[in-house]
Amino acid sequence: MDLINTFQEIYGVSKNPIQRFFSPGRINLIGEHIDYNGGYVLPVAINLGINGLMNLRDDNLICLKSLDFPNEIKVDLNKEVDYRKEDGWGNYAKGVIKFLLEDGFPLKGCNILIKGELPNGAGLSSSAALEVLIGFMLLSQNQSAEEIDRTYLALLGQRVENKFIGVNSGIMDQFVISNAKKDQALLLDTQSLTYEYIPCHLDGYSLIIMNTNKRRELASSQYNQRRKECESALEKINQVRKTRAHNLCQCSVKDLEFLDNEIELKRARHVITENQRVIQASKLLKNNDIEGFGALLIQSHNSLKNDYEVTGFELDTIVEEALKIKGCVGARMTGAGFGGCAIALVEKNQIKNFKDQVSKNYYEKTKIEPSLYETTIEDGVKILKK
Ligand code: GLA
Repeated sequence: MDLINTFQEIYGVSKNPIQRFFSPGRINLIGEHIDYNGGYVLPVAINLGINGLMNLRDDNLICLKSLDFPNEIKVDLNKEVDYRKEDGWGNYAKGVIKFLLEDGFPLKGCNILIKGELPNGAGLSSSAALEVLIGFMLLSQNQSAEEIDRTYLALLGQRVENKFIGVNSGIMDQFVISNAKKDQALLLDTQSLTYEYIPCHLDGYSLIIMNTNKRRELASSQYNQRRKECESALEKINQVRKTRAHNLCQCSVKDLEFLDNEIELKRARHVITENQRVIQASKLLKNNDIEGFGALLIQSHNSLKNDYEVTGFELDTIVEEALKIKGCVGARMTGAGFGGCAIALVEKNQIKNFKDQVSKNYYEKTKIEPSLYETTIEDGVKILKK
């Protein structure tokens, strides 16, 4: 059924117009686990995402309902906004409301309906898409889409994740969802938050998302563990380095010789070499060298597997199987790892065979049915004009 009808069934018919919004998921082409190490990342927004509908109310309540989850949330704008475990997904929205109020934005009472099409826990950033969506909807009560400060929006989403939900993630996901453009990859310097768009037409090739359908179970504890290992490696390098580095991406491969702890050496080696691969990959993409670009994706995966150790059996298997199939020029895990999704670059005329073969061979080895779909590179969060 049409979402507008559903909205009116839930909230009633009102004279206040209903506005429609869309916030995409993301995949990262290359530059993994370096957004919290001051590195470059190269993500894109995808065609799957979350729909949001909103109209104003005549009181001071923000009412939120999702068609994907049972709980309904009501926030009174005159009262303190607190995290409550039982509010589930609604906490992402509550965090956004809390921080917008703290920052002095004059929010109005409204009804909001959410309908997502992103698989949860698959590493396509459904939570960042939700934070950015709610932030964008609420800011658009008083500003046009062009007026909304996209860097503020991204930082707001990250603040919710870090300070309200309690997940210590970097800025990449919220930043690309706030700023992405169709058929462009976003080369973001996570230290300065300056960025550049790189045309990404992938002539003759398509991006395939390969969901291992293995949930990212250990993701948040292992994620925090990796962050600590990186901080500790940086500290040790700085004890002997002549000039102080502010983050690992300011260090060079030569600095690795200052590390004698095997784990820290491996983590730092991934971070430093991955940052170099992003810079190189951006150049290749600008020159439309898709095969060269694909080769870097493979190197990135191997580094995440052997040095950063965030892949696991399912991700390694799906990438390995993908690389055996004709027409595939590169594949790697994307996002935090420990399950979730990988991506592959595949010649357009080989896609059907690729999907069939990878699904079959991955199932044989893991006994899990994967989901493979072709994706396109799309705009970031936006308001839909009818
Ligand atoms: C998650 C985090 C990001 C980033 C990636 C790994 O998606 O939210 O900030 O660290 O993992 O690159």
